[in-house]
Amino acid sequence: MKRLEGKSALITGAARGIGKAFAARYADEGATVAIGDINMAGAEAAAAEIGRGAYAVQLDVTDQASIDAAIATVEEKSGGLDILINNAALFDLAPFVDITRESYQRLFDINVAGTLFTMQAAAQSMIKRGQGGKIINMASQAGRRGESLVGVYCATKAAVISLTQSAGLNLIQHGINVNAIAPGVVDGEHWDGVDALFAKHEGLKPGEKKAAVSAAVPFGRMGTAEDLTGMAVFLASKEADYILAQTYNVDGGNWMS
Ligand SMILES: NC(=O)c1ccc[n+]([C@@H]2O[C@H](COP(=O)([O-])OP(=O)(O)OC[C@H]3O[C@@H](n4cnc5c(N)ncnc54)[C@H](O)[C@@H]3O)[C@@H](O)[C@H]2O)c1
Repeated sequence: MKRLEGKSALITGAARGIGKAFAARYADEGATVAIGDINMAGAEAAAAEIGRGAYAVQLDVTDQASIDAAIATVEEKSGGLDILINNAALFDLAPFVDITRESYQRLFDINVAGTLFTMQAAAQSMIKRGQGGKIINMASQAGRRGESLVGVYCATKAAVISLTQSAGLNLIQHGINVNAIAPGVVDGEHWDGVDALFAKHEGLKPGEKKAAVSAAVPFGRMGTAEDLTGMAVFLASKEADYILAQTYNVDGGNWMS
């Protein structure tokens, strides 16, 4: 028996990386998946690769009209929304004295306001339909503590953990479970970019930061996007009905809580 048979899911930022792996796994589990991304060409390519009813939806999580239109498209195409994964995010780093307002604003707009207002629109749709739902936010080990060069991104992910708690407590009355996943270090295009930023700021060679963080993971290697999909399926399934307002570390043992 597939665990998400007949469910309708919207995954933000799913044109590549972790979101795309979630979309493929959800399709395996019988869900119809809307791949929402600011990169529509990437979203369409991901949907075509996944097949099985997956479809691309234009979505900029910093734009309320775009969020509302994406939810309306999912309601129309899939008959309603059962599951939202708030996965879209942006990373940046800088020494504390060099943090710019522009970087701060962009990261908070996407990672925090994007998560909050996409959650809100999804919750409104789920409440209107009256069948409850599941919302999963992508936090990070970065939200568990500060990091020397990563102040703004860490603060955004701490905010995601906090919003998950408040939304989880408030929305359970409507049968909507809100939880979060906190990955550690996950290999892919995102971390290639992170590695390049660390190389610039710490005077490292390309690949050196990645090798160092990989060696430090208790499990013995970086995570893959596929390492996270089991938790994403579980939190969206009926088995997680009694779970709310939690953030689960899926990080090879990097953070214990
Ligand atoms: N990769 C890691 O090591 C890691 C670790 C901890 C947490 N995370 C979190 O997991 C999630 C996925 O990470 P990833 O590595 O797959 O990232 P990624 O950079 O590979 O993918 C992010 C996706 O979001 C999309 N996006 C960016 N801005 C958007 C916007 N305004 N509206 C809609 N879509 C937008 C991008 O086009 C891209 O497809 C993020 O929330 C990230 O913070 C990642």
